[in-house]
Amino acid sequence: MAGLISQSFIDELLIRTDIVEVIDPRVQLKKAGREYTACCPFHNEKTPSFTVSQAKQFYHCFGCGAHGSAIGFLMEYDHLNFPEAVEELAQMNGLEVPRDAGPAPDPKAKARQATLYDLMAQSDRYYRQQLRQHPQAARAVNYLKQRGLSGEIAATFGLGFAPPGWDNLLKALANDKEKCKQLTSGGMLIEKDEGGHYDRFRDRIMFPIRDQRGRTIAFGGRILGDDKPKYLNSPETPLFHKGRELYGLFEMRQALRKIDRIMVVEGYMDVVTLAQFNIHYAVATLGTATTPDHLSRLFRVTPEIIFCFDGDRAGRDAAWRALDNALPILKEGHELRFLFLPDGEDPDTLVRKEGKAGFEARLDLATPLSRYFFGQLSNQLDLSSPEGRARLAKTAQAYLSRLPKGLFKQMMVNELATLTQMESSAIEATLNTEPKQAPPVRGKTKSTQRKLQKNHSLVPTPVRRGVMSLLQEPKLALLVESGNIPANPEIPGLDFFGEVIGVIHKNPQIEIATLYSRLEGSRYYHHLKRLSGQEQLLKGNLLEHEFKGILDSIKKLASNKSMDEQMEILFAKPPSQLTNEEKEMVRRYFTSKSLY
Ligand code: UTP
Ligand code: MN
Repeated sequence: MAGLISQSFIDELLIRTDIVEVIDPRVQLKKAGREYTACCPFHNEKTPSFTVSQAKQFYHCFGCGAHGSAIGFLMEYDHLNFPEAVEELAQMNGLEVPRDAGPAPDPKAKARQATLYDLMAQSDRYYRQQLRQHPQAARAVNYLKQRGLSGEIAATFGLGFAPPGWDNLLKALANDKEKCKQLTSGGMLIEKDEGGHYDRFRDRIMFPIRDQRGRTIAFGGRILGDDKPKYLNSPETPLFHKGRELYGLFEMRQALRKIDRIMVVEGYMDVVTLAQFNIHYAVATLGTATTPDHLSRLFRVTPEIIFCFDGDRAGRDAAWRALDNALPILKEGHELRFLFLPDGEDPDTLVRKEGKAGFEARLDLATPLSRYFFGQLSNQLDLSSPEGRARLAKTAQAYLSRLPKGLFKQMMVNELATLTQMESSAIEATLNTEPKQAPPVRGKTKSTQRKLQKNHSLVPTPVRRGVMSLLQEPKLALLVESGNIPANPEIPGLDFFGEVIGVIHKNPQIEIATLYSRLEGSRYYHHLKRLSGQEQLLKGNLLEHEFKGILDSIKKLASNKSMDEQMEILFAKPPSQLTNEEKEMVRRYFTSKSLY
């Protein structure tokens, strides 16, 4: 499960590591009895419910349910993947990560990734050098000056120049076939149909896009004049995922120790200019709508997000899309507001006209999400009529259903109650059933709808409840005789459930932290994270009782499914040869099939 990092090494690593030493430099911990506490870094809160147990080498947040071992913490907090988190811990302990012997595609992949990072860094250096040295650099420098950027801010954001010509970067960096291939996969070169390669970015101002650790993973390139396309961006690459990355986040963290709010703007130039005017808390999405991923990332850094949009129709559409994407993750303590700029202005032009103070005064007037939401929905409605109010209740309901349970949702319900002159309880009764999909609004695409669906809380299927119980009380696995759960590839997650049981059977004394670390490398890890964020189960005897029930359902489900196979055999027989019992089985099979 841990790829090619040997499990014994991971165990050894966890034994040597003190989770408190890992977390404390990142989130200041306070000793409270035998444990340590802090305000949770994974959700916003005012009173600490994040607990670190030194004895168990485990962290748990009673507020949001986040929990895991030192490895899991690094994955979450530093946004590392499993091998990277192991690597980080190993370095802290002065250890080398050994790899299992055998056919090993993984170290190769890792080496490829390292080269790709390196080639991106080299590209970055190359473009910056060209901005200083290229015979035509003056054009680029003049352009930046004419846009009002200082040399200092250009340096802070690492701006560069991709010179005119089809093969500058190619000649400078791709001196062998492998590098050529790599630079192509990194989006820097493009393969020609007739063979050969050419530079993606030509005659453009280059904006390096950096990840959380400051490594350049992609670029945006602006044309120096008015040609089209104005901006060219790196495509999705092994290092760069637009739906996750935010331009300017790294630079923000460098500039500010404490981040009270973050403004989401539309353009690279906006972020850079705002920073030049000492507003260091702006980020831009990279030519995509704001995804829930972006937002949950930002809410980990700050309690307040302000979306800044053009005042035109496109800006209003983008704002509604952003709101829509934010719903599944909005909780009390999160503040989301909307700022619409005057027509024809963007933050870049506006901050130049109004200065920092003027611009920030606008920010203070940004519309809170609730006002924007109800305002938009009741825009065309006559709330003095029962029909209008009913209409509002109906549309709002679909959206409110998608809010996570909690105070914020309650307040939105109350607000809707006031507006519609209904009782809150009546509105609540229509929510909280299966989360419903909001009706499509203004060009919302199927794919954003799918993304939203993915963010709903997981339906507690027996398999999921089984896994959750084991994570809470590993010993329960001993109630399962090995091999007692039929394998059935058609039931999602059943193999993982078996895997968890197997891990515990091999080591009945296993600690939750160790169990977690075994599973953190699994392909189900993301599911696991979401499961662990859900409501906790029962304790002690009740949990055992519950688990037995869950086991029964799983077994039934699994054998029901393998009944498909039995049926295939029966179907293959000529009906005349079926026994009465077999006929009855077929009949039952048909009448019950719709039940699962
Ligand atoms: P804008 O068209 O608002 O440009 O695009 P801007 O940021 O104001 O740029 P300047 O001030 O003219 O230099 C906003 C963002 O949309 C993406 C870029 O990320 C850009 O920063 N975009 C825009 C593209 O990806 N391609 C384009 O052709 C245009
Ligand atoms: Mn602009």
